[in-house]
Amino acid sequence: MTKLTYISHSAFIIDDGTYKIAIDPYITNNPTATIKVEDVKPDYIFVTHAHGDHLGDTVQLAKQHDATVITVNELAIYLANQGVKIHAMHIGGVYEFPFGKIKLTIAHHASKADNGEYMGPPCGVVFMLKDKTIYHTGDTGLFLDMKLIGEICQPDVMLTPIGGNFTMDIDDSVRATEFVKPKCVIPMHYDTFPIIPADPKEFVRRVEAKGFKSRVIQYGETIEL
Ligand code: NI
Ligand code: MN
Repeated sequence: MTKLTYISHSAFIIDDGTYKIAIDPYITNNPTATIKVEDVKPDYIFVTHAHGDHLGDTVQLAKQHDATVITVNELAIYLANQGVKIHAMHIGGVYEFPFGKIKLTIAHHASKADNGEYMGPPCGVVFMLKDKTIYHTGDTGLFLDMKLIGEICQPDVMLTPIGGNFTMDIDDSVRATEFVKPKCVIPMHYDTFPIIPADPKEFVRRVEAKGFKSRVIQYGETIEL
């Protein structure tokens, strides 16, 4: 049984019973995180892009737990130069890890390190685990190719931003859900900062009205998929 924990923002932990995969582990400076960074013990870390609210505690966690960081090539090289174990991939690429396959998708956004250095394109990711397929869109605006991602990968779960300003808002994430047609859609990237307010219950109501299953995961909550 695969478990999914929501740290808050775009940060999640997938636990398949054997491997723990942290996604965008922004914890220490995250005002809405209730989980402590010491309590996250990942075997793998997936990073969608280099912005601080996604890269977060990646370097510390990777070094502490000897975790492999999976991300786009440019950001991977930047992290490798900091002594982190990496697996570099790129948009469209698929690779089989011990927990299942990962496929990188496009995301319309940007990716720069704090020093201004270009970190390659941002991405989304599809985890094709043994029992579930999970699509984490990353930070992105709405794009029509989400239909293709839905058709090819047929996600059980879609994690989608609703906070607006930097990413899709509720309106666009409702449309994104219609494009991808996941079995269940879970909102993320809202209320972390005053500039990205959104009511996740409104999102759930709106997608349920269109026939989709949806749920809000509370900060720090773990659900079984
Ligand atoms: Ni970003
Ligand atoms: Mn972000």
